[in-house]
Amino acid sequence: MSEEEIKFVVRAISNGSVPDYQISAWAMAVYFQGMNNREIRDLTLAMAYSGDIVDLSFIEGIKVDKHSTGGVGDKTTMVVVPLVAAADVPVVKMSGRGLGHTGGTIDKFESIPGFRVEKDFNELVEQVNKIKAAVVSQTGSLVPADKKLYAIRDVTATVDSIPLIASSVMSKKIAAGAQAIVLDVKVGSGAFTKSCEEAFELARTMVEIGKGVGRKVVAVLSDMSQPLGKMVGNALEVREAIDCLHGKGPSDLEELSLTLAAHMLLLGGKCSYFDRAFEYARELLLSGKGLNKFREMVSAQGGNLQYEIGSYGLPEAGIKMEVRAERRGYVYRLDAYEVGRTAMYLGAGRERLGDKINHAVGIELCKKIGDFVDRGDILAVVHADNRERVETARERLQSIYRLASEPVESTPLIISTVK
Ligand code: URA
Repeated sequence: MSEEEIKFVVRAISNGSVPDYQISAWAMAVYFQGMNNREIRDLTLAMAYSGDIVDLSFIEGIKVDKHSTGGVGDKTTMVVVPLVAAADVPVVKMSGRGLGHTGGTIDKFESIPGFRVEKDFNELVEQVNKIKAAVVSQTGSLVPADKKLYAIRDVTATVDSIPLIASSVMSKKIAAGAQAIVLDVKVGSGAFTKSCEEAFELARTMVEIGKGVGRKVVAVLSDMSQPLGKMVGNALEVREAIDCLHGKGPSDLEELSLTLAAHMLLLGGKCSYFDRAFEYARELLLSGKGLNKFREMVSAQGGNLQYEIGSYGLPEAGIKMEVRAERRGYVYRLDAYEVGRTAMYLGAGRERLGDKINHAVGIELCKKIGDFVDRGDILAVVHADNRERVETARERLQSIYRLASEPVESTPLIISTVK
């Protein structure tokens, strides 16, 4: 397609002048035929300019953003944003809600009583100039073409297309205005890119697009064959992120958060090489500076937490049911997609845009890939508010946990980096 043709399609998506079924047909054509790099770049820019472009020049310093391509149990934003802000690198994080089996950062923050995810622009600038961090919901005027196209892709099985994912992610990042961007490209069953080859291609495409418009971009490929951390579900994930900022998080969540934070510190000009940046991020975590920044950000956005109690004052589900191993063995598979679907079934995610979610429900995974389990050990705990669903979720988890008789290596978390 020529640049003009691409601009025509994007205009038609944004202003509704072409019916949805025609847009679906176009999305399906892109899905099957792919796009060349020039077409992907033109599509990204046309989408980015379909709405407002945020001007962050009122905020002092190098603004660094982060984006994950979506996964299950991925609560890294809640750890990474305060860590980086604690080093005085300003972060304006505009996030979305969960759709399908993947969770969304905004839904997670909304499980904090009183937390406001909407701020007008002046308030946002003031907050970031003062405390360096804010996490807000993407407004409707930011890349309206993506909002519309994403909803159509979601119901026409055209989400997992590299040109469509790359343009969706990068148009939002370009419109959100940061000078530097760290991308977390997920690989595995719980991700939209299931294989390393696809994830590499997506990462390379997005890095090229970003560099082409003068942004600094780094992409980290990370494993999403099993969920990240132990908690899946909104309030449960906030709890785990706060535990992590206390230095008591699961090792995979801590490692990925420190890796992403380190790349952001490098791009923000705070360190000149990766190992030093990683150590600096660890110091910010262990000294409690990241936690203090999280607390500052939560209270600046109206949130109320009680840090001295175990649940931090987050909503808790009425029913907690254990899932126990029926035999001994080593966990060799814990399919992230299936866990995400089960959490969604409990009410942690929405089937359709606009569905109400239950912030308290979810799944606590007590065993991960590589762990040994004896017969009768607790594999997971289902947090639910409905007796019937808790039983179905328990049965599903029983079959999602696959056990082998021989020891199994756990899967590597950080697969590669693309610059
Ligand atoms: N995340 C996005 O923002 N867009 C996609 O298309 C997929 C993941």
